[in-house]
Amino acid sequence: MNIPELIHKAIAAREFAYAPYSNFCVGAALLTKSGKIYTGCNVENAGYSATNCAERTAFFKAVSEGEREFAAIAIVGGPRGPLTEYCSPCGVCRQALFEFGGPELNVIMAKTPEDFIERSMDELLPFGFGPSNVAGNAAVEK
Ligand code: THU
Repeated sequence: MNIPELIHKAIAAREFAYAPYSNFCVGAALLTKSGKIYTGCNVENAGYSATNCAERTAFFKAVSEGEREFAAIAIVGGPRGPLTEYCSPCGVCRQALFEFGGPELNVIMAKTPEDFIERSMDELLPFGFGPSNVAGNAAVEK
């Protein structure tokens, strides 16, 4: 799986975005270390706080199917219609992805399959709080 292909999957997932309140449509494609891809879109709610971002949709889908090791995530998003900007993951999604992605997860923010920027999770969430920071056996549970 190369980066343009991963972005293509994120763009396709964005088509399913349910965003009647913000009209900001996001798609994500999460690549496991074994090469599988899980996609997600944002799913909004009339009770706004129940909204789920595209990244966490993909992440929860993957984890709930037994995945624990991730290599990269591609994200596309912006106001409904053609993509004109890079969509940066929100703070909650950075924290969620850090749980299994750790500091090395490659975060790809794209406008098109050829136009993208990459940042490590360590750059996006420096000094991240993760499983190893929690006392007890939380880190072993992986
Ligand atoms: N959103 C995402 O899905 N991912 C992000 O990284 C940023 C924000 C969604 C949440 C909400 O449905 C809409 O975009 C506007 O914030």
